[in-house]
Amino acid sequence: MRRVAAALAIVLACALAASAAPPAPAAKAATAPASPRPDSCVTCHLETGDDRLAGPAKAYTDDIHRAKGFGCTACHGGDPNAEGMEAMDPAKGYIGKPAGARIVQVCGRCHADARFMKQYNPSLRVDQVAEYESSVHGRRLRELKDPKVATCASCHAPHGIRPPSDALSTVHPLRVADTCGRCHADAKYMASYKIPTDQRDKYKKSVHWNAMSAKGDLSAPTCNDCHGNHGAAPPGVNWVGNVCGQCHTVMAELFGKSVHAKAFTQMGVPGCAACHDNHDIRPTGDHMVGATGDAVCASCHNPDDAGGKTATTMRGLLDALAGEWDKARGLLEKAEHAGMEVSQPQFELSSAKDALVKARAAIHAFTIEPVKAEVDGGLAIARKAHARGVRALEELRFRRTGLVVSVVIIVALIGGLLLKIRYLERPRAAGTKSS
Ligand code: HEC
Ligand code: HEC
Ligand code: HEC
Ligand code: HEC
Ligand code: HEC
Ligand code: HEC
Ligand code: HEC
Ligand code: HEC
Ligand code: HEC
Repeated sequence: MRRVAAALAIVLACALAASAAPPAPAAKAATAPASPRPDSCVTCHLETGDDRLAGPAKAYTDDIHRAKGFGCTACHGGDPNAEGMEAMDPAKGYIGKPAGARIVQVCGRCHADARFMKQYNPSLRVDQVAEYESSVHGRRLRELKDPKVATCASCHAPHGIRPPSDALSTVHPLRVADTCGRCHADAKYMASYKIPTDQRDKYKKSVHWNAMSAKGDLSAPTCNDCHGNHGAAPPGVNWVGNVCGQCHTVMAELFGKSVHAKAFTQMGVPGCAACHDNHDIRPTGDHMVGATGDAVCASCHNPDDAGGKTATTMRGLLDALAGEWDKARGLLEKAEHAGMEVSQPQFELSSAKDALVKARAAIHAFTIEPVKAEVDGGLAIARKAHARGVRALEELRFRRTGLVVSVVIIVALIGGLLLKIRYLERPRAAGTKSS
C-alpha cells in the first residue's frame, strides 16, 4: 500500500515537474553545438539598441552557459530560427522574463537533474535547488511569496554567469560579501525586516576579510562559508559552534565540552560569537582574558565568583609565560648581536612560543589545568633558554676581561721593551758625545 502511494507520488511529481518546466527540454539542450551559431534572438536583440534588450545579448558572450553551447532559449524558450517577433511565441515554449519561483524552476530544470549535469561535469553538485528550498530565502519565497528574497538570479548575475573560481564571478570568494550586501547592506531595501544591515561592513573589518583580501588566504570564510552557499542557514545558538568549528576544530572541541557550552545554550547566548562576535571578529590577545577592564570574561563574571577567579589565574599564567619568553628572547638577541653563538637555545625557545599558542587555545576549556600544563612546559623551556643566554653573556664578559688583561700585559711588555731599548742606547749616545 505504502509503495503504491510512493510510486503514485513520484509519478505525480514527475508530471508536475514536466508541466512546470519550460519545454526546451534538457535532452535537446544536451545535443546543442559546442559554439552556438548566432540565433535570431541575439541578432534582433542587439539590433533593438535598447539597453534592457541588447544588454543581456552582449553580456551573454562571457557566460559559462554560452561556452557550453546553450543559447537564449535554454532559459527563455522560444524559436531561435524564426526571424521576426514570432520567435517569442508562447506556443513555441517562450516564457518571457522569469521572476521569483519561476527562476528557480528554470535553473533547476538542469541543475537538479543529476543525469543531465553528469554529461558536462560529474563533480558538480546538483543539490542547489534542494538547499535553496530549505534556506530562509527559499522558505519565504515559497510560503510568503516574498518577492524581495534572493533567487538564483540575485546571486548569479544572469547572462554573465561564471564558475565560482572565476575572479569576475559574483560568487567568487572576494566578491560574495558585496553580492549579499547588495540587499543585506541596503537599509532601504531591508527596511521592512527586523534584522540589522551591518553584516557586510562589520565583516569587512574582521580578521577573516583581512586574511582573505590582504593576505590572499581564500580559505578564510566569507558569507557563504558560514551561512551555506545555498542554505542561508537561519542563525541558531547551537549552529554557531558547528560553523566556526569547521575550521577552528581545537577551540570548538574544547568549548563543546566546557561548562559554557551548556550554560550558553540555556541562556540563548550564541557560542563563540558571545566572545568573538560573528561578523566583526577581531584579532585576539591575552588582554581578553581576565575579570576586569575590557576582558571578555568581565562581561559575565566578577572578580570574586568562580569564573572570575579562574579568569584571573589564567591571565596570570599567560602573562608569566609571555613575560619569560620575551625576557629570554631579548637576552639571546643581545648575545647574538655581540657575536655569541646562540642559535641552539634560540631554536629551543621557539617551543616555548608554541606552548604559549597552545595555552591560548587551551583557555577554551575554561578550566585552569590544561592552561597550566602548557604554561608550565613553556616556562621550563623559556627559563632554560634564559639561563643559556646568561651563560653566553658571562662567557662574553670573561673573554672580554681576558682580552683586557692580555692587552695590559702586552702593552706593559712593549713599554718594558721600549724602556729597555732606550736604556741600552743611552750609554752609547753619551759615549759618542764625549768622544
Ligand atoms: C525581431 C526581433 C526579436 C527577436 C527575433 C527576438 N526578440 Fe525578444 N524582444 C524583442 C523586443 C522588441 C522585445 C521587447 C518587447 C516588449 O517589451 O514587449 C523583446 C523582449 C524579450 C524579452 C523580455 C521580455 C519581458 O517580459 O521583459 C526576452 C526575455 C526576450 N525578448 C527573449 C527572446 C528570445 C529567447 C528570443 C529567441 C527565441 C527572442 N527574444 C527573439 C525583439 C526580438
Ligand atoms: C541561464 C539562463 C538564461 C539564459 C541562457 C538567458 N537568460 Fe535572459 N534572463 C534570465 C533570467 C533569470 C532573467 C530575469 C533576470 C532578473 O530577474 O533580473 C532574464 C532576463 C532577460 C531579459 C529582461 C531584462 C530586463 O532587465 O528586463 C532579457 C531581455 C533577456 N533575459 C534576454 C536574453 C537573451 C537575448 C539571451 C540570449 C543571449 C538570454 N536572455 C539568455 C535567464 C537567462
Ligand atoms: C539548459 C540547462 C541549464 C540551465 C537552464 C541552467 N544551467 Fe547553469 N549550467 C549548465 C551546465 C551544463 C553548466 C556547465 C557545468 C560545467 O561544465 O561545469 C552550467 C554551469 C553553471 C554554473 C557554473 C558552475 C561551475 O562551477 O562550473 C553556475 C553558477 C550556473 N550554471 C548557474 C545557473 C543559474 C543561476 C541558472 C538559472 C538562471 C542556470 N545555471 C541555468 C546547465 C544549465
Ligand atoms: C544567496 C545567494 C545564492 C543563491 C540564492 C543561489 N546561489 Fe548558487 N552559489 C552561491 C555562491 C556563494 C556559490 C559559490 C560557492 C563556492 O564558492 O563554492 C554558488 C555556487 C553555485 C554553483 C556552483 C557549484 C556549487 O554548488 O558550488 C551552481 C551550479 C549554483 N550556485 C547554482 C544555483 C542555483 C541553480 C540556484 C537557485 C536554486 C542558486 N545557485 C542560488 C550563491 C547563491
Ligand atoms: C535579493 C536580495 C538578497 C540577496 C542578494 C541576499 N539576501 Fe539574504 N535575505 C534577503 C531577504 C529579503 C531576507 C529576509 C529577511 C528576514 O529573514 O527577515 C534574507 C534573509 C537572509 C538570512 C536570514 C536572516 C534571519 O535572521 O532571518 C540570512 C542568513 C541571509 N539572508 C544570508 C544571505 C547571504 C549569506 C547572502 C549572499 C550569499 C544573501 N543573503 C543574499 C535578501 C537577500
Ligand atoms: C565567520 C562566520 C560568518 C561570516 C563570515 C558571516 N556570518 Fe552572518 N552570521 C554568523 C553568525 C554566527 C550569525 C548568528 C549570530 C547570532 O545568532 O546572534 C550570523 C547572522 C547573520 C544574519 C542574521 C541577522 C544578524 O545580523 O544577526 C544575516 C542576515 C547574516 N549573518 C548575513 C551575513 C552576510 C551578508 C555576510 C557576508 C557579508 C555574513 N553574514 C558573514 C556568522 C557569519
Ligand atoms: C572557512 C574557515 C573558517 C571559518 C568557518 C571560521 N574561521 Fe575564523 N579564521 C579562519 C582563518 C583562515 C583565519 C585567519 C588566520 C590568520 O590570521 O591568518 C581565522 C581567524 C580567526 C580569529 C583570529 C585569530 C587570531 O589569531 O587572532 C578568530 C578569533 C576567529 N577566526 C574566530 C572565528 C569564529 C568565532 C568563527 C565562527 C563565527 C570562525 N572563526 C569561522 C578560518 C575560519
Ligand atoms: C567565553 C569566551 C570565549 C568563547 C565562548 C570562545 N572564545 Fe575564542 N578566545 C577567547 C579569548 C579570551 C581568546 C584570547 C586568548 C589569548 O590570546 O590569550 C580567544 C582566542 C581565540 C582564537 C585565537 C587563538 C590563538 O591562536 O591566539 C581563536 C581562533 C578562537 N578563540 C576561536 C574560538 C571559537 C571557534 C570558539 C567557539 C567554538 C571560541 N573561540 C569561543 C574567548 C572565547
Ligand atoms: C556570556 C557570559 C559569559 C562569559 C563572557 C564568560 N562566562 Fe564563564 N560562565 C558563564 C555562565 C552562565 C557560567 C555557568 C554559571 C556559573 O556557574 O556561574 C559560567 C561558568 C564559568 C566557570 C565555571 C564556574 C564554576 O562555578 O565552576 C568558569 C571557570 C568560567 N565560567 C570561566 C570563564 C572565563 C575564563 C571567561 C573568559 C575567557 C568566561 N568564563 C566568560 C557565563 C560567561
